[in-house]
Amino acid sequence: MKLNENFSALSESYLFATVAQKSAAYAEAHPDKKVIKLSIGDVTLPLAPAVIAAMHAAVDEMGRKETFRGYPPYEGYEFLRESIAGYYARRGINVPAADIFVSDGAKSDCGNLPELFDRDNLVLVPDPVYPVYVDTNLMAGRKIVYAAAAKENGFLPMPDESVKADVIYLCSPNNPTGAAYTKEQLQKWVDYANARDAVILYDAAYECFVQDGAARSIYEAKGAEKCAIEMCSFSKTAGFTGTRCGYTVVPSALVRGGVSLKEMWFRRQSTKFNGVSYVVQRGAAAVFTEEGQRQVSDNLAYYRENARIIADCMDGCGIFYTGGKNSPYIWLKCPDGMKSWEFFDYLLNEAQVVGTPGSGFGKNGEGFFRLTAFGDRDNTKEACERLYKLLKK
Ligand code: MLT
Repeated sequence: MKLNENFSALSESYLFATVAQKSAAYAEAHPDKKVIKLSIGDVTLPLAPAVIAAMHAAVDEMGRKETFRGYPPYEGYEFLRESIAGYYARRGINVPAADIFVSDGAKSDCGNLPELFDRDNLVLVPDPVYPVYVDTNLMAGRKIVYAAAAKENGFLPMPDESVKADVIYLCSPNNPTGAAYTKEQLQKWVDYANARDAVILYDAAYECFVQDGAARSIYEAKGAEKCAIEMCSFSKTAGFTGTRCGYTVVPSALVRGGVSLKEMWFRRQSTKFNGVSYVVQRGAAAVFTEEGQRQVSDNLAYYRENARIIADCMDGCGIFYTGGKNSPYIWLKCPDGMKSWEFFDYLLNEAQVVGTPGSGFGKNGEGFFRLTAFGDRDNTKEACERLYKLLKK
């Protein structure tokens, strides 16, 4: 038998797993030191009370014969799909409930969606970006081309007519840079994709952080329903990193070679996925109630304030950074020409602060570093005090 040799193209370990291993090893060797993690984008505030109440009620339903539920529908319960469609509608975007697939999170969907495409497609990925896009396509043996995101283009690469991409990943607001496309910029990507029959996989996991009028959905662009799949998540919006729930829109109008991608996705999901639990879906639906929306926006305001604290610290240190406005991440230039992993070690050893090395998000991330605003407030402040002491000129 032969193993999947494509795995040899991957780095030895997944970025966030490497970061976790290194910081755990440091903490074990220095039990007297308090290590503060501003690395993986994991939330620290508890679930909103409206979510908890809905989940409690759902647990009770599961405990009574008359209201007990077995397998959930493959594509999600109607009540949740309708609530998600309503969330789009309130932003003036028409996404029918029938085109929405509920899942256990955007990461799974973004890792699984490439199964719809032949191995011989050319995949276009921004650099830097969330490493799952690259790793999952490398595992499948696909050829990847990169669209450079740098200071010069505002970290927002635009289509290049000379590149004949078939599958295009976009992440906006971008993880890790925080740069967010406007509707007009997305229109250019949609026109490019439609002109060459390509498909856009749009990761909107951070849409709820947009504050300056940037786009929050690819479907704000005209004709996007003919070329784009959108993934979104309750993780960052409503603190579901440990609860697990997300959704993906595969429009009925998205057809390639006479085949409906929505039907293909239903075929894939119904074969390999048995849905998200009733209790979790009830909790997710509560996010869209008036009360739920108020509570989750309070949590988002808390994280935004953390981002402001980190940004102020960078200003004080005279360090170039971007992000933190339309996203929970601060993307900073490592001082003194340090490389990303060099800076990681420096901060860990000298300040016991853990961040994510920019080079883990792609070649163009080398020399950059990402800090998350999802931490606890006191820890964020303490980390910033340590960083200021260490890095101020
Ligand atoms: C991140 O830190 O980039 C994210 O939390 C990772 C993820 O969502 O899987």
